[in-house]
Amino acid sequence: MTQEEFVPKAYTNTVLEGTVKWKSPSNIALVKYWGKKENQIPANPSISFTLDACATTTSVTYKKLDKKGTSFSFDLFFEGKPKEDFKPKIETFLARIEEYLPFLKEYHFKIETSNSFPHSSGIASSASGMSALALCLMSLEKELNPSLTTVFFNDKASFLARLGSGSACRSIEGPLVQWGNHANTEGSTDLFGIKYPNDVHSVFKNYHDTILLVDKGQKQVSSTVGHNLMHDHPFAKERFAQAHTNLDDLQTVFKEGNLKRFVEIVESEALTLHAMMMTSMPYFILMKPNTLQIINKIWEFRAINKSNICFTLDAGANVHVLYPESEKEQVYQFIKDELVAYCENEQYLCDRIGLGAKQL
Ligand code: DP6
Repeated sequence: MTQEEFVPKAYTNTVLEGTVKWKSPSNIALVKYWGKKENQIPANPSISFTLDACATTTSVTYKKLDKKGTSFSFDLFFEGKPKEDFKPKIETFLARIEEYLPFLKEYHFKIETSNSFPHSSGIASSASGMSALALCLMSLEKELNPSLTTVFFNDKASFLARLGSGSACRSIEGPLVQWGNHANTEGSTDLFGIKYPNDVHSVFKNYHDTILLVDKGQKQVSSTVGHNLMHDHPFAKERFAQAHTNLDDLQTVFKEGNLKRFVEIVESEALTLHAMMMTSMPYFILMKPNTLQIINKIWEFRAINKSNICFTLDAGANVHVLYPESEKEQVYQFIKDELVAYCENEQYLCDRIGLGAKQL
């Protein structure tokens, strides 16, 4: 597949007005995307669990204009209220995808969006938000060209979402999505996320992710700045190579259900991500003292209880606690008794592996 294949030929239908609505989940990377080239091309392949409860719901109401505009015409509402400060991000997104959706300036759009997770929880909404919007725009393209296949629809939705935010391309399907060229994964591509194509042991089918909200504040360093700091990073080459090796190893883990090795790879990836931040120039630290307290508690609990609990981190201080279904009672009790005290206002979100976005 090349990106030119996502540029549509003439549309067969005329569509004057309508509304489309999608609910799209967040995702949590097991092998991290950190570092990118021009046009949102990842420096290394990544893989994530699609989440279930943490999601964005977006509806797009469209009305054809009398004449194609010279700029994009849209209103934006977040949780029912006009949201002017989100508009520049959407404007940039629309400009990046216009080549692939040439009808964008022919309509006025009313975009209404809301998140299932609390506002300013420190949970990144870009993955669920950008994928939900990409899916809505694809639904309009499907009305203009009803012959689009489901495979093409999902691939292009992921491709468009990637242009909004890299990790968003992993939020269209589930339960495991891989993004980025990887020699040993058939069909893998830098252009969009694919459903993990190989065997997955049943132990991974019901995995839990409890997100501990350690710091709900605004991130001091955006992901975009962080990705860019990988350009002249002294350890970049080794890090990118390591992501490929970790994906190779995870294939065996997914097939055999070896949780001990799963824990090692996932925690090493999380700490490597933060090690990259700490060793870039300028350097920065996104973990907080309570992040480390939680990590140490998890290690202690795992050793004492012979548990398979583990943690991962995204670009922030919050901790994702991952554990299999068979351990859910014991781990949940541990979270309530020992970890919640380290969360801001004792807040946490219970999530689990999910199957991808849904049209409403
Ligand atoms: C640490 O997808 O937010 O969560 O492409 O600049 O929008 P942009 O970055 P973004 O980066 C996410 C990085 C990460 C790891 C991951 O999800 O793989």
